[in-house]
Amino acid sequence: MAVSRAKSGVMRVVVVGAGTIGSTHAEVLDAHDQFDLVGAIDREHRDVVVGSRRLRTRTDFSRALADLSPDMVVIATPTGTHLDVVGQVLAAHPACRLLVEKPAVASWAELDRLVDVMRGEAAERLLFAHHTAYAPEVLWLARAKELQQSGGRLRSAFCVFQDPYANDVPGYRQRLGSSWVDSGINALSVLERFATVGPPLGRRHLDVEGIVEEVRVQLGGGDETARATIVTSWEASASAKSTRLVYESGMQVLLDHTGVTGLAEQDGRITHRFGTDGSRVRRIQHYRNLYDVVANGPDALTSWETTHRLLRTLLHAT
Ligand SMILES: NC(=O)c1ccc[n+]([C@@H]2O[C@H](COP(=O)([O-])OP(=O)(O)OC[C@H]3O[C@@H](n4cnc5c(N)ncnc54)[C@H](O)[C@@H]3O)[C@@H](O)[C@H]2O)c1
Repeated sequence: MAVSRAKSGVMRVVVVGAGTIGSTHAEVLDAHDQFDLVGAIDREHRDVVVGSRRLRTRTDFSRALADLSPDMVVIATPTGTHLDVVGQVLAAHPACRLLVEKPAVASWAELDRLVDVMRGEAAERLLFAHHTAYAPEVLWLARAKELQQSGGRLRSAFCVFQDPYANDVPGYRQRLGSSWVDSGINALSVLERFATVGPPLGRRHLDVEGIVEEVRVQLGGGDETARATIVTSWEASASAKSTRLVYESGMQVLLDHTGVTGLAEQDGRITHRFGTDGSRVRRIQHYRNLYDVVANGPDALTSWETTHRLLRTLLHAT
């Protein structure tokens, strides 16, 4: 059954990869009046549930793209397959845009291949989805310029990104790489909202199995340097993600990415706060905000230049 509601004058989109996040893309696209979800492709026969309907995925990649003729293809397959799928889409349907899930690549060899792609004609058509940078609490602080100015320079940051994946480490490694590859890019994309992310300064495994990592990165350059410590972990009983920013004035801002809240504290008192009404699932909000940017002018998405720098920092620390 086709899920398309034949919306007119909107961008026709196909999602490749009908797993956890492919389903989120499908749900957000289906509800967005500037996109028309016209199909999904997966290497397995999996249905995607969109609201009360089921979208049957297609496995015949090239034929599906020829039939569906999308304006944009979303690549939501496991991290280590992104580049192969980019190549398949460009070969089968070269005129469309591609939105690639984070992290676009997970190794230096893949980054070299991506750099080659970005030197070619396809460069203007590749977009990169760093969903946590579009989280409501992150956008709240990014837009609160006066609050940031009152804090003065950013001095340090502490990011903790934890997921409950210790029960199936081999499975999650295959899908997502490692806790650092999977969540490190999210932390970096959040930090990039508030300072230019520089190279890593060090990295340590905090456990024997290699599923809890500490990475320190430089923020800014020259005299303006601050430091961030990022901990990524698969040793948790639930997903729990937060970023704490400490400013020159002593002001601290806590962004709780799980609760979708923000709090600014100065001299022991809360000076500003941000919250949500809980009516929308956290991840849906990230992708809804991201797709609003795609609809209104994808130039405002994370640029290739920034994506390239973040990926280099990510890979230097692997
Ligand atoms: N799971 C999350 O919470 C989450 C959040 C944001 C971003 N992401 C990113 O999204 C990507 C996918 O993660 P996921 O958790 O949805 O994975 P997943 O394993 O749940 O889903 C991946 C899907 O892709 C299909 N697939 C695999 N190789 C394919 C190929 N070559 N062609 C077509 N289909 C293929 C699989 O059959 C599966 O249905 C990863 O890069 C991840 O970093 C995941």
